[in-house]
Amino acid sequence: MTWLITGGAGYIGAHVVRAMTEAGERTVVYDDLSTGVAERVPGGVPLVRGSILDTGAVTRALAAHEVTGVVHLAAKKQVGESVEHPLRYYRENVEGLRVLLEAAVAAEVSSFVFSSSAAVYGMPDVELVTEETPCVPLSPYGETKLAGEWLVRATGRAAGLATASLRYFNVAGAAAPALADASVSNLVPMIFEKLTEGLPPRIFGDDYPTPDGTCVRDYIHVADLAEAHVTVARALRSDPGRELTLNIGRGEGVSVREMIDRVNAVTGYDRPPAVAARRPGDPARVVASADRIATELGWRAKRDVQDMIGSAWEGWIHLHPEAARR
Ligand code: WQD
Repeated sequence: MTWLITGGAGYIGAHVVRAMTEAGERTVVYDDLSTGVAERVPGGVPLVRGSILDTGAVTRALAAHEVTGVVHLAAKKQVGESVEHPLRYYRENVEGLRVLLEAAVAAEVSSFVFSSSAAVYGMPDVELVTEETPCVPLSPYGETKLAGEWLVRATGRAAGLATASLRYFNVAGAAAPALADASVSNLVPMIFEKLTEGLPPRIFGDDYPTPDGTCVRDYIHVADLAEAHVTVARALRSDPGRELTLNIGRGEGVSVREMIDRVNAVTGYDRPPAVAARRPGDPARVVASADRIATELGWRAKRDVQDMIGSAWEGWIHLHPEAARR
């Protein structure tokens, strides 16, 4: 069985490719390299450069590599950008998915794993978010992920495709420095950037109804997330009728202030944060219930916040050697 990993040259995708190949699965990467990096794809794994919007190219890749399963990560993922450019997000994340599904069904692919997001929940008013918590996305990005889940599920039912939608919580860390997240759009790299610039890390609001007043999130190591894909892909293969919707988190809330303290400890910078204004649209607390995947598939995250920050920092130094020279 060969798995097509769309977005396999991206930060999360490359980790999925690595975990799948380490587990003995055959993979092919399909990536337009708009944000992906070819060097992230391990030697021996074919890389097909193409857009998911290109029916012909997708169809050819599926046939040429005799693909029987798809793990679909290729997507736009910036919440703020999605507010400014909703059409771009609906085109890439919904139309791109539709094209890919149509080609997958025509190629008689049997399993389809879809990369969804905790953004589908919006501003959940619960201690732990279960997969039954109502989905009320607050951004076009979250909307496209929720619409994507609908598209995947409906196609799976109609065409007899085993499907899974994986709702990622806050992803951090790296399995190797060269695989680290090169973008600076989430909390951990944003703290690193400030420290490297000689500035205090920023807390966006410290007056939330949380224990220390700062927002609480559920951080998950990208290597754990990647291993979850292996477990899910195998579950779909062994049960062709399967339809899964799963949170991928750890079930542990960590505040922004705690994250900054931990980064200061790991990096040795020891620079106190500065409190800035709230960022519009940020929920106070989003923490997964990680029970369903544990019960249904026996999968649990193994790595903690220390592992995430330590490995992310090694990746940051790899990209920004000056950060280590203080
Ligand atoms: C985490 C917390 C910030 C930077 C987003 C998407 C989600 C998923 C992951 C794609 C928030 C605070 C941040 C800083 C801060 N994306 N913060 N100072 O917003 O929880 O989730 O990314 O799939 O769908 O919504 O992640 O890392 O941006 O922020 O205080 O310098 O850190 O306000 O509370 P978020 P984040």
